[in-house]
Amino acid sequence: MTPVWETLVAAARTAREHAHAPFSNFRVGASVRAASGRIFTGCNIENATYGLTICAERVAVFKAISEGEHGFDAVAVVADTDILTPPCGACRQIIWEFCGDVEIVLANLNGRMTTHRMSQLLPHPFDSSFL
Ligand code: THU
Repeated sequence: MTPVWETLVAAARTAREHAHAPFSNFRVGASVRAASGRIFTGCNIENATYGLTICAERVAVFKAISEGEHGFDAVAVVADTDILTPPCGACRQIIWEFCGDVEIVLANLNGRMTTHRMSQLLPHPFDSSFL
């Protein structure tokens, strides 16, 4: 792993500490690196209605977009699982639409990491090219 991954994972790990997950107790942190070099982070934020819960990955992407960023080259996801936690289907769609075929690093709290490309995680995607 290159040092850039270490930076992104460390940011996601710190963001995870802010997770609001009283219903699942499953805490997730995420980070995205924008073309500008800025790193944006997110954590999962649950809601008593359950359905309004938002995942860490979407929080990170939406924070970046809301700050005027466009173009991303890497995403990190951190959770406390032995089998590394991948983005859910909804987050894969959002990451594809806003970040394209970026590299995704999955990591846990014990230092395990793997990388995937978005095109591996979301093959044959629907996006604005169909509209
Ligand atoms: N969650 C994420 O934040 N990201 C993922 O990649 C998987 C799931 C959150 C949503 C919910 O708050 C909790 O984890 C359990 O599904």
